[in-house]
Amino acid sequence: MKRMGALMDKLIIEGGRRLSGDVVIGGAKNAALAILPAALLTDEGYCDIDNLPEIEDIKCLENTIGSLGARVSKQNIGHVRIEASHIVSTLVQGEDLRRIRASYYFIGALLAKFGKAEVVYPGGCEIGVRPIDQHIKGFEAMGATIEVEHGIIRAYSENGLKGANIYLDVVSVGATINIMLAASKAEGVTVIENAAKEPHIVDVANFLNTMGANIKGAGTDVIKVKGVKHLKGCSYSVIPDQIEAGTFMIAAAATRGDVVIKNVIPKHLESITAKLLEMGISIEEGEDSVRVSCSTRTKGINIKTLPYPGFPTDLQQPMTALLTVSKGRSIVNESIFEARFKHVDELKRMGANIKVEGKIAVIEGIDCLSGAEVVATDLRAGAAMVVAGLIADGITTIANIKYIDRGYEKIEEKFNNLGGSIKRIHE
Ligand code: UD1
Repeated sequence: MKRMGALMDKLIIEGGRRLSGDVVIGGAKNAALAILPAALLTDEGYCDIDNLPEIEDIKCLENTIGSLGARVSKQNIGHVRIEASHIVSTLVQGEDLRRIRASYYFIGALLAKFGKAEVVYPGGCEIGVRPIDQHIKGFEAMGATIEVEHGIIRAYSENGLKGANIYLDVVSVGATINIMLAASKAEGVTVIENAAKEPHIVDVANFLNTMGANIKGAGTDVIKVKGVKHLKGCSYSVIPDQIEAGTFMIAAAATRGDVVIKNVIPKHLESITAKLLEMGISIEEGEDSVRVSCSTRTKGINIKTLPYPGFPTDLQQPMTALLTVSKGRSIVNESIFEARFKHVDELKRMGANIKVEGKIAVIEGIDCLSGAEVVATDLRAGAAMVVAGLIADGITTIANIKYIDRGYEKIEEKFNNLGGSIKRIHE
């Protein structure tokens, strides 16, 4: 019953309030979603993992890890201890897991440790076709056999994984990390070329290296992994979430507010900072904070989503919400996912003037959005609707917020502390 209630939750936003004050950013979702399965690779000891975001996707992975026989104990908010020496199963499945993307990391981790894995086919937000052929190509190059049957990916390598040279045909975050996981205990050296360079790739490599792995080059497009026989437990703190930070930066600017966003790595936010500066917004970088302030109407700009260090696709949707009320015409080119414009129809309900053709959205800025009943069609579309609700005239009701809860911790509390007005209702 509780689950049904959560599914029906809605956010009610009273728009038009200027955000001001401080907000503390949580741990990086996409790093944490890889680090938790990576902890399964330990042969002795336990992993103490800190700065985990308090979001539904993390709870789902913690439950899954527990269901495999590992001991998962919560030490504190955002801090779990995982002891993985008692794993009894390599079958990873479950209703909740079908909804998330990161389940694919269990393939790399379990293959590396046990030479076999059976994992439910990854789900996640419906923002495009999202194949996993590059993951599979990597595992096969290392000697694994992969079969997909009845919605389950079965991977096995009777003679263990062997290091290989793998050139990724597309720059893929998931494939880069998954191959790193598998290669960490393979025999010999694996070289991943055309690797993704996102901050969370470096974070996962740092975690694995703290466990005793030998990974070099993470953060560049060539990563070398020298397989080791043994990995041990460690203590590790996840980096701050670049996308949550970017969402607050955009919301601060959109409400013409003045917000200090704390616990961030400003270097990871450079592409967002550059675009906000272009729009006429002031940004002050501190050592581990950024202050975003804005007192006039923002200027429209063009953005193209690209792999890191380019503008992140995960912020395209919240940024589109801000562009709907920015002066003049803006063009958004979504080059990563072919169906990441579902938020556009929802923004139109609020009066936005947007035309989409293929991967391009053309936005003619209007003076103000008007509150309406809208739906979160996926995780970042949900974030876009929150930004839109905060700037709109009147009340916005967002349904389907299970998506938002998958990736944003305490979203209403964080915005309300800044002066926003967001209420959660259970229907
Ligand atoms: C991850 C993130 C997601 C983010 C995305 C891009 C997680 C759990 N999710 O998703 O939030 O939006 O990176 O930064 O970390 N592709 C292939 N074949 C593959 C793999 C990917 O063609 O085997 C394509 C995809 O369809 C997409 C592009 O490569 O067009 C990038 O995808 P990828 O970086 O792999 O994204 P995900 O790992 O799914």
